Amino acid sequence: MRVLVTGGAGFIGSATAAALRDAGHDVVAADDLSRGRADMVPDGVPLEVVDVTDAAALEPLLAAGRFDACLHFAALIEVGDSMERPEAYFRTNTAGTAVLLEALLRHDVGRFVFSSTAATYGEPERTPIDEEHPQRPTNPYGESKLMTERMLDWLHARRGLRSASLRYFNAAGAVGRHGERADDHQTHLIPVALMAVTSARPPLKVFGTDWPTPDGTCIRDYIHVADLADAHVRALDALEREGLVRANLGNGRGSSVREVLDAVERVTGRPVPHTDEPRRPGDPAVLIASADRARDVLGWAPTRDLDRIVGDAWAHLTEGVAPA
Ligand code: UFG
Repeated sequence: MRVLVTGGAGFIGSATAAALRDAGHDVVAADDLSRGRADMVPDGVPLEVVDVTDAAALEPLLAAGRFDACLHFAALIEVGDSMERPEAYFRTNTAGTAVLLEALLRHDVGRFVFSSTAATYGEPERTPIDEEHPQRPTNPYGESKLMTERMLDWLHARRGLRSASLRYFNAAGAVGRHGERADDHQTHLIPVALMAVTSARPPLKVFGTDWPTPDGTCIRDYIHVADLADAHVRALDALEREGLVRANLGNGRGSSVREVLDAVERVTGRPVPHTDEPRRPGDPAVLIASADRARDVLGWAPTRDLDRIVGDAWAHLTEGVAPA
């Protein structure tokens, strides 16, 4: 298939572009490079530097591209940032995606794979979280993604657009050159812990040690980016059979912050310098996916555990490349 990958210079988008290429698809990456990096785009995948929320800029790309499908990763992704400037999230993630969808329909691109998020569920009412769990986001980031899921329901019903909304839990790890940014803007636990080990960042702050969990720290479901990429390739195939897919992407297993720090120590051979701090506002205590639907509908099963996730992130940080 001819496939357009928006956000193809970002962490998950670039890893998925490589997996799609390896599966035999003809892939074009689109990215405005506001956060992505041109050197993350896989070899053999052309990069179009374009803002995919700009209809006029998209037009020549779609007219020339004759795409069969679009995988849409380009977005603003920080929960905390979304609390400070919700309007940016609604403009880029919701309105911007509406612009992209309108252009795709105009050019008869009939398949769409969407980067959604566990943040669409909000505070969990039960664990693990299945796809029927109520969706009541507690931040504008999750709301902006949920609004897009709702648009996709209508576009399937009224315009026949086939789509898969993949709700990621905690994306992590690295594959090849595709890893998380290791800079001052990074907020995610694993890269921040690894940078604390190398002294590239100050000691890690553990946000809360009095949560109602066995060791008092928050529990999350970390999923390796290579497993995520594999799920996207499968979702594209599934759209041959299915009109509308909604699936969680997680391991179905939780790890506490302390367990992650233990894994970092096992991998690096060094303890993570850290301080115990108060809770971070907006964090739920436990977020774990039920991954049954992804297994049934996509035939997907993640294969990489926490030590592999941390090990690959460490290889990427220290050597610039993780195992394929
Ligand atoms: N944490 C710390 N110290 C840090 C960073 C994180 O203790 O310096 C803790 C957090 O409190 C949380 C856990 O580590 O308990 C994971 O935090 P992250 O910031 O890595 O990730 P989040 O769980 O907050 O959010 C991530 C994505 C969201 C997505 C969500 C879905 O960033 O986009 O997973 O599960 F919606």
